[in-house]
Amino acid sequence: MERIILFDTTLRDGEQSPGASMNLDEKLKVAQILEELGVDVIEAGFPIASNGDFEAVHAIATKIRGSAVCGLARATKGDIERCAEAIRPAARGRIHTFLSTSPLHMKYKLQMEPERVLEKVAESVAYARTFTDDVEWSAEDGSRTEPDFLCRCVEAAVAAGARTINIPDTVGYAVPDEYAALIRLVLNRVPNIDKAIISVHCHNDLGLAVANSLAAVSAGARQVECTVNGLGERAGNAALEEIVMALRTRRDVLPFECGIKTEVITRASKLVSTVTGFPVQPNKAIVGKNAFAHESGIHQDGVLKNAQTYEIMTPESVGLTRSALVMGKHSGRAAFKAKLKDLGYDLPDPAVEDAFTRFKDLADRKKDVFDEDIVALVDDQVVRGNDRIRLKSLEVLCGTRHRPPSAEVELEIDGIDSKHRATGDGPVDATFAAIKALFPHDSRLQLYQVHAVTQGTDAQAEVTVRLEEGGRTVQGQGADTDTLVASARAYVNALNKLLLKREKTAPPARPA
Ligand code: KIV
Ligand code: ZN
Repeated sequence: MERIILFDTTLRDGEQSPGASMNLDEKLKVAQILEELGVDVIEAGFPIASNGDFEAVHAIATKIRGSAVCGLARATKGDIERCAEAIRPAARGRIHTFLSTSPLHMKYKLQMEPERVLEKVAESVAYARTFTDDVEWSAEDGSRTEPDFLCRCVEAAVAAGARTINIPDTVGYAVPDEYAALIRLVLNRVPNIDKAIISVHCHNDLGLAVANSLAAVSAGARQVECTVNGLGERAGNAALEEIVMALRTRRDVLPFECGIKTEVITRASKLVSTVTGFPVQPNKAIVGKNAFAHESGIHQDGVLKNAQTYEIMTPESVGLTRSALVMGKHSGRAAFKAKLKDLGYDLPDPAVEDAFTRFKDLADRKKDVFDEDIVALVDDQVVRGNDRIRLKSLEVLCGTRHRPPSAEVELEIDGIDSKHRATGDGPVDATFAAIKALFPHDSRLQLYQVHAVTQGTDAQAEVTVRLEEGGRTVQGQGADTDTLVASARAYVNALNKLLLKREKTAPPARPA
C-alpha cells in the first residue's frame, strides 16, 4: 500500500484562527503529542511573525526527534533566513515557502505581474535550498489559479529544488471532482513533477476540506496537510482525525496507509481543545462527545447485539475508553500514577504530585471520578503552567436572599496578591466584575459557555470564555465541580492569553 505523508499544521495554520493563541509550553505539549501520534511533519509556526513564533519553532525543532519540523516563510530572503535559523536544531528540518499564484491574489494582494511571480518562485525556493534539502513550495490560492500558470510555477519550483509541491485550496472554494482533476492535471502536465511529492492543503469554508483532501489523494497527492480538530483560519482546515480514520476505515476504496497511531487521537483532540480554549462540538466526527454515543432505543439494541450495526469504527481505535468509574477518594498515589499512564500521560514527578493533590481535592467534592475528569484536570494543569495571572480564591454570595449577588476574588498578578469584592447582575457577572477591577482591561466578553465534563449534578463544569480587544480575540477554558470557580478560571485563562496575544502582535522581529 502506498504511504500518505501526514503534515500537521495545528501549530501554524491552526494557531492562526482567531482566538487560538498558545504559549511556548502549550505549543511544546502539542508538538509532543503530534510526535506521539506519528505525524510525519509538524509545521511549528511562522518564525518571522513574532519573537514568540520564532522561539516556539526553535524549541520544537530542538525537542522533537520523531517528526520533521517545518517553519513557514514568505518568498523573501528575510523570512527564509529567519525560518532557517528557527529550524536549525531539527533532526529533520523543512522550510515551507509560499507565494500567491491566482489572478486575484497577484493583482490585488501582491500587485505583481505573473512573470515576476514566476521569477520569485524560483528565487525563493533556490534560496531556501541553500539552508536545507527539504523545501516545500506552496502556490497560495492554488485552486483558483489559472492551470497553465500553475503548471509553470510548479515546474519552476521543482527545478529550483522544491521536494514537496503544495496546491492549497486556500479559500475552501473547490469541490472534490474539480480539485482531484487539478491534481491530476499537475501530475500529467508538469514535466519534472516526478522529482516532487504533491501535497494538498484544504480549508473548510464549504465544509469540503476532508472530502477535497481525500479526492486529491485518490488523484495522486501523497501528502495531506491538516490540523487536529480541524482548527484553522475561518471555518478551519481539514481535520487530521477525520482524514486518518477515513483512510483506516475505508481501506477498501482508499488503499493507503499513514503512520498515525489512531489510539492517541482522543487525547490529542482534548489537549488541543484545552490549550486553545476551542471546545469540540458534540456531534463532531471522531472526537465529538456524541461521536460514539447511541441514544435511540433501536440503535442501543442493535449495538448491544452487535456493535457493528451502528459503529463503523470502535471507540477504542481512537483512544476512547468506555467511560469507566475509575477512582475515588480512597485511591492512593500508586493507583493514580498507574491511571495516568493508562490514559497516556507521561508526566515528570512534580507534575504528578500536583495532579494527585488536585485529584484528591476533586475526589473529596465529587463521588465518582471518571477518566474524563482526570483528563480535564491534567490538561488544565498544562494550560496554567506559565500564567501571569492566577486565581487564588473566590467567594460568592447569591441566591434569593443575597441581592445583588456579590463576589470576592483574590488574584495573584505577576507574583503579587490582591483582593476585590464586586456586585453584578448575577454571580458570574459579579465574579467577572471583581476580576476586571483587579486586572483592568478594555476587552469585551463575546462568549460565555458552560458544559458538563461527565454526567450527574456533581459533574465538573467546563467553561469557555471568549474576549475581544482591538480586533484580537482569545478563548479561555476552566474546569471545576463549582461552575463559578470554573467560570473564574476560564476568564483568567482568557486574560493570560490576551497578554500573550499582545506580546505576539508587537512589531515583527527583524531577521538576524
Ligand atoms: O491556506 C494556505 O494557502 C496556506 C498556505 C500558507 C499554505 O496556509
Ligand atoms: Zn491554510
